[in-house]
Amino acid sequence: MSRKVVVFGSYVTDLTGRSGRLPVPGETVKGSAFLMGPGGKGSNQAVAAHRAGADVTLVTKVGSDVFGTMAVDFYKKEGMDTSYVFVDEKKETGCALILVDETTAQNEIVVLSGACDNITPEDVESCRELIASADILLVQLEINFDALFQAVDIAWEAGVTIVLNTAPAAKLPDEFLRRIDIVTPNETEAKLLTGVTIETEEDAKKAAAVFMEKGVKEVVITLGSMGAFAMNREKSELVGRLPVEAVDTTGAGDAFNGGFVMALAEGKDLFTALRYGNVTGALSVTRKGTAPSMPDRKAIDELYEKHYGKITAGGY
Ligand code: RIB
Repeated sequence: MSRKVVVFGSYVTDLTGRSGRLPVPGETVKGSAFLMGPGGKGSNQAVAAHRAGADVTLVTKVGSDVFGTMAVDFYKKEGMDTSYVFVDEKKETGCALILVDETTAQNEIVVLSGACDNITPEDVESCRELIASADILLVQLEINFDALFQAVDIAWEAGVTIVLNTAPAAKLPDEFLRRIDIVTPNETEAKLLTGVTIETEEDAKKAAAVFMEKGVKEVVITLGSMGAFAMNREKSELVGRLPVEAVDTTGAGDAFNGGFVMALAEGKDLFTALRYGNVTGALSVTRKGTAPSMPDRKAIDELYEKHYGKITAGGY
């Protein structure tokens, strides 16, 4: 049985241009395609976990505008709960300006968080019951930090497992990190928060140890071409990147977090959840866009079995 996941984070509309290469500052390059769709790290992660089969409620905020309506319509079509999608009467729905390099599938993003950077204390207070009764709270750093800290405090006081995806990269107070059960940075975010440059598995262990000294219980680090790494008090493990044909890497980290948290919610151990995250992230890069690129459970299970063998109840 899947336990209850609450994702508290951003929704923004993704405006994506694809081109043969990314422009250098001051340069204009002609692109080949434009895509508009639902994005934002919080929302993407909630969609990924939902499609993977988790019982998810998303808390986010949009503006009273056409982008906000698109978000709610998208969630309804996905069969997701929209009761905690707040609407800001003054601030616009956020958007992200994304460029994708068609040759490498890499991207550059400027995010304008808009309404989801304006989650009020009253908004958070109205989610107290929801957050306190969750099994897992998944948060990121793409919303206003006062709201983030308030939500994490509610979860922490209620003994909810707190998973923090440290994207986009930002410095964080140690008192906040002490409340986190599992942190899921990429290598850039891990460097900012621990001071360790990660080039090898040993470096990843060192960075994870710094997080654990700060009070985080378990650490997962996504490492791009090196794969993904996890460490708890008993052991650590690096799993390699899965060989897939990448067309757009935008949102791969979000897919990873959604798949990872779904597995945790099903009671799988940290290292099995790491594999589910890896598989979900790999599948998402084979499709264009962010939320729309999140895979369903059937695709996840098939790729999981192909690379890691038969699925069992507790672990791989
Ligand atoms: O992680 C990818 C997401 O980051 C995009 O969907 C974009 O909205 C930015 O927030």
